[in-house]
Amino acid sequence: MSKVKNISLAAEGQKELEWARLNMPVLAKIRSDFEKAKPLKGIRIGVALHLEKKTGILLETLVAAGAKVAAASCNPLTTDDRVASAIAQDGKIEIFAWAGQTNEEYYWCLNSVLDSKPHIVIDDGCDLINLLHTKRKDLLSNIMGGCEETTTGIVRLWAMHREGALKFPVFAVNNAHSKFLLDNQFGTAQSATEAIMRCTNKLVAGKTVVIAGYGWCGRGIASRMKGMGANVIVVEVDGTLGPHESGLQRGLQALYDGYRVMDMDKAASEGDIFVTATGNKNVLAKSHFEKMKDGAILANAGHFNNEINEVELKKMSKETHELKDNVMQYSLKDGRRLYLLSEGRLVNLSRPSGQGHPIEIMDGSFAVQALCVQELAKGKKMPAGVHNVPKELDDSVARMLLESQGIRLQKPTAEQAKYAEEWKEGT
Ligand SMILES: NC(=O)c1ccc[n+]([C@@H]2O[C@H](COP(=O)([O-])OP(=O)(O)OC[C@H]3O[C@@H](n4cnc5c(N)ncnc54)[C@H](O)[C@@H]3O)[C@@H](O)[C@H]2O)c1
Repeated sequence: MSKVKNISLAAEGQKELEWARLNMPVLAKIRSDFEKAKPLKGIRIGVALHLEKKTGILLETLVAAGAKVAAASCNPLTTDDRVASAIAQDGKIEIFAWAGQTNEEYYWCLNSVLDSKPHIVIDDGCDLINLLHTKRKDLLSNIMGGCEETTTGIVRLWAMHREGALKFPVFAVNNAHSKFLLDNQFGTAQSATEAIMRCTNKLVAGKTVVIAGYGWCGRGIASRMKGMGANVIVVEVDGTLGPHESGLQRGLQALYDGYRVMDMDKAASEGDIFVTATGNKNVLAKSHFEKMKDGAILANAGHFNNEINEVELKKMSKETHELKDNVMQYSLKDGRRLYLLSEGRLVNLSRPSGQGHPIEIMDGSFAVQALCVQELAKGKKMPAGVHNVPKELDDSVARMLLESQGIRLQKPTAEQAKYAEEWKEGT
């Protein structure tokens, strides 16, 4: 049986869901195909995603395909209680989620999802899949496969795979071009910027904004902050990013995009607003807090709340208190005050200020999710490990997203297609 904060919020949640439904044309098309073909009949799906209105539409789409679904949030702060209540009240999907959970409650919810004995799991950050491989190993034999939504989850999955620990195939949904090129960049750009403004109501123009990490998320946020008149500093590191890239190229990209680039030791004393989006830990730590200006604002858009070392910040403080929703004041022993937004958790998704990515962005990301689940349910033999989303699937989502905007791109002519594959003809 579902567990949510307050079922009387359901009517408000229905309105939110209706707004998302009206603005997710690609999922609507997939849903209508699923309703006819029922490709998920008899399949149980366990979900750990930020539980808000766009996720609600994905869950409905899976149910329309014939699946039985149980869902929790992948983060203790990011559930929209109105939406969770509306889905729970409808009764077709089991929901275990509310905003403001303790760590214990968070894991109780993930375990409750796993109690439904899923065949397929959809995860965001790899906590659900990790739980399956540690405390709930007894359930592994039921699992046909999984899907992972975010960069940090993929990094964790690769680490499991390298150690031979990953026991089923997982689609790296994050790495689909129709996902990370749009969601991580344009989605995080708009939603993180919007959430910081909603938390603080402060003017961005004229401020110095320090962005840590110039990956897909960081470059999006940097461009929006620059567009609003901020003086943007980018912080990168000389570290590797898989076999073909490193932070060095990202630093150069930022420089050529017109930003000042430096390390955090230098940037710490300059910033008015700091935003981390690295997937790494202790990006803002004691040595940086020591240098920051009175009144500096700290926000995180990376997956986990360890990018900003809140424990050290608290130790340096003589007093802390929640000044207003999503804004915690840390009064340091030397008299300066620093402000941490949303407990250092994903600022763009933390309620009440964070609303998550724009709806159209999630239409694309969740279309990839829905089609990957369909692919897994076909039961084709796939080895345990991390799998790229098939290119045809990725392209079909991009095509549907364009068509939903009334755009149809021409195919290259036969002559052009041949030329693009030619090696002899130089002119
Ligand atoms: N807020 C959201 O809604 C949202 C959306 C998508 C992804 N994410 C999360 O955001 C994080 C970043 O995702 P991405 O796709 O941009 O990843 P990415 O791998 O493309 O980029 C991360 C960048 O951070 C840099 N970096 C690493 N350690 C650093 C440090 N100590 N200081 C400065 N830079 C450092 C890396 O060199 C890299 O360029 C991940 O945790 C991901 O899961 C959040």
